[in-house]
Amino acid sequence: MGSEFKCIDCGMVYEPGIRFRCDCGGLLEVIHEFGHVERETFDERLGSMKPPYSSGVWRYKEIINPAIDVGHVVSRPEGNTNLYSHPRLGKYVGLEDLAVKHEGENPSGSFKDRGMTVGISEAVRLGVKAVACASTGNTSASLAAYAAQAGIDCVVFIPEGEIAFGKLAQALSYGAKVLQISGNFDDAMRVVQEASGELGLYLLNSVNPWRIEGQKSIIFEMIQQRGWEPPDWIAVPAGNLGNTSAFGKALREAVELGLIDKVPRIASIQAEGANPFYRLWEEGGEVLEPMKPSTVASAIKIGNPVSWKKALRSVRETEGVVDQVSDQEIMDAKAIVDGCGIGCEPASAASVAGVRKLVEKGVIGPGEEVVCVLTGNLLKDPDASVQYHTGTIKGVEQTYANRPIVIDADIASVERALKRKN
Ligand code: F0G
Repeated sequence: MGSEFKCIDCGMVYEPGIRFRCDCGGLLEVIHEFGHVERETFDERLGSMKPPYSSGVWRYKEIINPAIDVGHVVSRPEGNTNLYSHPRLGKYVGLEDLAVKHEGENPSGSFKDRGMTVGISEAVRLGVKAVACASTGNTSASLAAYAAQAGIDCVVFIPEGEIAFGKLAQALSYGAKVLQISGNFDDAMRVVQEASGELGLYLLNSVNPWRIEGQKSIIFEMIQQRGWEPPDWIAVPAGNLGNTSAFGKALREAVELGLIDKVPRIASIQAEGANPFYRLWEEGGEVLEPMKPSTVASAIKIGNPVSWKKALRSVRETEGVVDQVSDQEIMDAKAIVDGCGIGCEPASAASVAGVRKLVEKGVIGPGEEVVCVLTGNLLKDPDASVQYHTGTIKGVEQTYANRPIVIDADIASVERALKRKN
């Protein structure tokens, strides 16, 4: 069962190798020659302790990378993330129930591990010596971890002073060479693409089509967890647009393979200050206009998303929508998710804030079934949480703050504090 790279613009086909764009400049996607695939195979592997099928990515090997030799697979294992719901969450967004799929439960704390296991395994298959990425933090943490496991050199390009500390700590600790670019993520992305071409670094941003293949597993796993019953909607935060692209491809293939017969609608949610995809959608244009991004959700502070063309196709094909939410809405939604004991980083909460908005607008009906993807762990960005609860984020009100109380070291002060309402 072979796979090939195909240009989404001109249709040119290539052998899968060290190439990330078509000669025409277009993005490449992986096209598989699928064998017979059925739900039962994936159900039988549930709960398996045996690598690589114990992974929530490699469980679906036949639809992610059918041809790779399992000896080349580098897996932690990833995926197998939980679906949660909580009455307070449903109430907050105005639905009977809201489920969240917590991708922050992956080994390095974000969904990136699902793409990275596939990308790094390809790097091993190809025998590359060094891997690289640009990142708002999570990609660099994930790549650094997988490269360390595979014994491959790793270089990460990050915007100086703009990534959350949990993520920087990971990249440094896992031993990546960390290059802090003076500029934003989009500058780092431009430089890493040039560097990978000229300096022989294997690029592992989501422009690498194998990353998208791995991220498809979020959809397969979520639908399998629901007994192969797709929800009506899937909401996802949108930055560089890898996930939005991957979700559309996963749904297209799941239909083609007969795994599902109903296609959920994708709601792709951007931060208001970093919303080039939303603007493209609203204007009904065909070409994305880059912008200078600004948002408290540093993970999605991206003004020139690489995968916008694939993402646009995903939203259109699933009759989905693109929307935007403010920093206030993001931080308030995060406080609710956190307060349910689930917890997520700011960017993740964009999906929940987006659903609330879409319910308010009547785009999502109150009886519809919705799954939000939480993309990263709360501990990735502890500063954002502490700043929200202590009221130190500029321009963001503490709507649901849980303020720390400073007291003297005596029992009377404790008693007073216990009586006080937060
Ligand atoms: N949520 C989190 C927590 C992220 O880290 C990212 C992207 C996104 C959402 C957006 O996903 O790019 O697929 O639309 N982080 C990348 C990084 C850019 O470098 O870690 P997307």
